[in-house]
Parts: sequence; C-alpha cells; structure tokens
Amino acid sequence: MSTSPAGRGIIIEGMRKRYGEGDTAVDALKDVNMVVQPGEVVGLIGPSGSGKTTLLKCLGAVIEPSAGRMTLGNNTIFDNGWMIKDLRALRRDNIGFVFQAPYLIPFLDVTDNVALLPMLAGLSNNESRQRAVELLGALDVAHRAKAMPSELSGGEQQRVAIARALVNKPPVILADEPTAPLDSERAMSVVRILNQMAQQYQTAIIVVTHDEKIIPTFKRIYHIRDGSTHEEAGEGRAFD
Ligand SMILES: Nc1ncnc2c1ncn2[C@@H]1O[C@H](COP(=O)(O)OP(=O)(O)OP(=O)(O)O)[C@@H](O)[C@H]1O
Ligand SMILES: [Mg+2]
Repeated sequence: MSTSPAGRGIIIEGMRKRYGEGDTAVDALKDVNMVVQPGEVVGLIGPSGSGKTTLLKCLGAVIEPSAGRMTLGNNTIFDNGWMIKDLRALRRDNIGFVFQAPYLIPFLDVTDNVALLPMLAGLSNNESRQRAVELLGALDVAHRAKAMPSELSGGEQQRVAIARALVNKPPVILADEPTAPLDSERAMSVVRILNQMAQQYQTAIIVVTHDEKIIPTFKRIYHIRDGSTHEEAGEGRAFD
C-alpha cells in the first residue's frame, strides 16, 4: 500500500453522509466532490455545521460515508462501501493527520514522537529514528530532537506534529485548523512547510481553516455549505 505513495492524490465523487435514521437523521454531507492532485495544498472553508469535520473523518476512514467514491493515492478505498479491510493500516500508511492541538506523547522525546509511527509500520528502530531526525531537520527543529514535548514552544510542538504526520510519507495529509493557536508568523511558516512538503513528497494536502491569515495562500479553495462543495480559485499568494 505504501509503495509509490503519491498515486492520484485525493478524489472524492458524490460523497454523502447521513447520521442516524428516520425523523432524527442528519444529512451532514449531501454532494461532496473534490480533487486534490499530488503535490497540491487546497483549503476547505465553510460555516460551522457545514460538514468539514465529517468530510475529514470520512476521508480519514474514521467514519463510514453513506454513499459515493473515494480514492487515496493508488487505491479506491470506498465505493459505496469500504474496498479495504484493514482500515487501521490504511490510516497508518496512507494518511497523516495534523490537528489544532499537536497531541504529542508527553513521555517520549521529540525524536521518538516522530519515530514511533515508522516503528509501528515495521521499520527498524535505527531507520525510524534516522528518518525522524531527517524530517526534524527539514522542519527546523533538529536542535530540539532530544527535548521532551513540554519543553517546546507552541510553534515547535506544531512542527514536530507535522514531522510526525509526514514521517511515513503518506500520499495524503488532512489538517484540521492547524494554525489556529499560532501567531501570524508561525502560521505562515506552518503553511510554507506544508507547501514545501507537498512538493517534495508529492503529498496531497487538505487544510480546513477559518484562519484569515492563511486563506490567501491557497491556489484552490473548496467551499462547503450545507453539505455540498463548490470549488473556487484562491489568490495563491506566494510566500515572501
Ligand atoms: N455524530 C453525529 N451525529 C449526528 N449528527 C452529527 C454528528 N456529527 C456531526 N453531526 C451534524 O452534522 C453536521 C455537520 O457537522 P460537522 O461537525 O461536520 O460540521 P463542521 O463544518 O466541522 O462544523 P464546525 O466548524 O463547527 O466544526 C452538523 O449539523 C452536525 O450537527
Ligand atoms: Mg468541525
């Protein structure tokens, strides 16, 4: 599953999600269509309750869509039902999650926080740590490799969380409000890093955000309203 990871990026066609049944059913997603190319970072924007988290959870194989098709990397993972049996392995090998809070493991140092996933995926401890240190370098936190999470600044913690999301070189990264707790400069540096990583590893990245600071950086934006997506050109403002 993890060979030639970039594949076709993310393709979602006609996805629907209904919570519950009968009178109390909620149609959270009614018609979701998205394409994110390998190497592309797109924004996903919409009002509260419009279905953003539901969309990321479906794509991340955390909950099951009610209908539609989803392709991640090289695999059609859902076609009116899961096409893959081991959803845990799918998540581990194909999807990097970045959340608003970094959720680092408090009793592991920075290197092991990042190295844990490749270890779980079967790489040797040495190889895993080597890969972790490489990425920490790319994210400018290699000098904190031996620190514990509680000794890091908020921006440093978020960069370690991004290293962890990237370490298995997943074809897909799903980021839910990754810059919300950060000041303007750090928010822009997180977005710059996501763009660099997208290019370097041909990762397809979706960023859910309300953050006015970073919205002008997207070349393409999907708006979601009332469970339906609409694509729009963004400003795609270059970084200085
Ligand atoms: N587990 C659930 N059971 C029933 N309805 C749900 C469930 N989770 C979400 N919903 C409903 O589905 C709709 C979409 O919710 P979702 O959490 O995806 O919105 P959102 O765009 O992430 O909103 P926010 O910006 O507030 O986080 C809402 O009407 C919500 O009440
Ligand atoms: Mg949400």
